[in-house]
Order: sequence, then C-alpha cells, then structure tokens
Amino acid sequence: MTGLVAQLTSRISFCAAHRLYREDFSEEYNRELYGPCTTDHGHNYVIEATVSGRIDPETGMVLNLVQLERFLHEEIFEHVDHRHLNRDVPFLKGVIPTAENLAVIFWQRLVGRLVPFKGARMHCLRVQEMPGSEVCYFGEA
Ligand code: NI
Repeated sequence: MTGLVAQLTSRISFCAAHRLYREDFSEEYNRELYGPCTTDHGHNYVIEATVSGRIDPETGMVLNLVQLERFLHEEIFEHVDHRHLNRDVPFLKGVIPTAENLAVIFWQRLVGRLVPFKGARMHCLRVQEMPGSEVCYFGEA
C-alpha cells in the first residue's frame, strides 16, 4: 500500500444474554472452565471495528465513517441486540459465545462489506463484555 494510511474505528454497543457451556463436557469441567458463566447471564457489549487503508486523495477518506457504522449495525447490532446469543442468532448456531468467538464471527461478517472498498481492510475487531477487559481479533495468523 502506498500513500497516506489511516485507521478508522467505529463502535456500537448492545445488550445480550449468553452462557458458556459445552454439552460434551461434564458439568464439573464446564464449571472449571467457564466458572459462573455456565449459567444464563447478560452483558452490555461494546464492539469496535478498526479498518485501515489508504486515504483516497480525491475523496480525502479511507471509507465513509457513516458507512462503517451502518455495516456494524446491519451485520451485528440488528441480529444480536436483546437476544440470547446461544439460541436466537442463526449465525451463532453451534458456537460457544465467548468474546473471542464473537470477535471472529463479527469480523467475518464485516469483511464481506469491505470488498468494494479496494484500499480498506479490517485491522481489528474488539469485543468488550465488561469494562476493564476486552478481546481483540486481528484475523488469521
Ligand atoms: Ni458472559
């Protein structure tokens, strides 16, 4: 990539319930792994998507930030807000909704929307379940 490069970040928040549990693990092992998260509970999630790319000298933008926010809304928010992540979201079927797994799946949903924007690529997807800690996914190693 040549020219001037910038990163854009767009942030949304949503409320959802989930539990961390694997049917094929024993009750004891689930508790050991996931602690109190084995039972239904909720979070106020904050999701941040960072896109990096070349600033188009004609438009002065990497990508319109309003557009990025719309992608977050359409690909994530509309499907997960006030839902139970284990039960209500088709694209999370069979997925243990840890912050890591959510970051990977949200990333994959957003990547498709960036295809038309040649200079832009996903840089990182952050998932915060509660203030003080968060997961950042950077794509495949
Ligand atoms: Ni949780």
